[in-house]
Amino acid sequence: MASLLDLTVQGDVGTISDESKLPQIKLMTPLELYRLWERQNWASHQIDLESDRRDWAALGDHEREQMMYGLSAFFVGEERVTNQFSGLVLAAEDKHEEAFLLTQQVDEARHAQHFNRLYEEVLDFDGQFEDRLDRARTYLTDSYFHLFDGHLVEDHRRLLSDPSSVEAKLDFITTYHMVIEGTLALTGQHFQTMRLERRGILPGHLEAFKRIARDEHRHVAYGTWYLQKKARDPELARRVQDKLVQTLPAAAGVIVPPGFDAEDEYEYLGATAQERNEFAYRALYRRLKVIGIGLPAVTG
Ligand SMILES: [Fe+2]
Ligand SMILES: [Fe+2]
Repeated sequence: MASLLDLTVQGDVGTISDESKLPQIKLMTPLELYRLWERQNWASHQIDLESDRRDWAALGDHEREQMMYGLSAFFVGEERVTNQFSGLVLAAEDKHEEAFLLTQQVDEARHAQHFNRLYEEVLDFDGQFEDRLDRARTYLTDSYFHLFDGHLVEDHRRLLSDPSSVEAKLDFITTYHMVIEGTLALTGQHFQTMRLERRGILPGHLEAFKRIARDEHRHVAYGTWYLQKKARDPELARRVQDKLVQTLPAAAGVIVPPGFDAEDEYEYLGATAQERNEFAYRALYRRLKVIGIGLPAVTG
């Protein structure tokens, strides 16, 4: 079974040093991504959550409890990535990149607003935004906190202290755009969306979640563009690999719902451990190939 940990094998993980073998895929620029943002704009507070409220109330305790990990991983995650972002805006290298990054930060705030509304109006979590967030955190795991309160916060702190450092920017984008967004968010969105569609429940949340996924694809496209540009320098490509080796064990742990170990053959929301791991692995593997990072020979 392929898993994210396969991408942390060190040794023959070389960078692609031969220019002619580098990927030639043309990626969207920050200006093109900014223009796409203008066309794809949406309002989280206009999503109708009335039917969602009825659906949630009608669910059995077990199903509700099971969904809390997936939902809370997003609610807390959206708040984390909104809060831990300003350093990247300061690290923009021109005005188009700055404009795109400002749209990304407001996207993340909008995503967090949607989840706060969902928890308040559908899940009936009372108090303030911060109270709901604190309660949502109780459904998460050590691996989750290791990644979102550990690696992400530390990489952001280093970037904020020196926005002109290419190394700090590269580390941050690897953790944020490649691991958190390009691997975990896209995997969580895929399986949670499939589950909601199959069950025919929470239509308002589903609509918002699909718009959030579209926003995330723009964010991941930016990260891929940046890393592809930098990874032409073998030393920087090696740095991206080192960062992946540091962060992927925690990321692999985030895929595992509470109460299970990574080796367990669990099922979560209708998908097996193998399906979840392989989806995450392929999401990251595909992007690393586009970026031009040499990968260990793994079948899967
Ligand atoms: Fe987001
Ligand atoms: Fe995002």
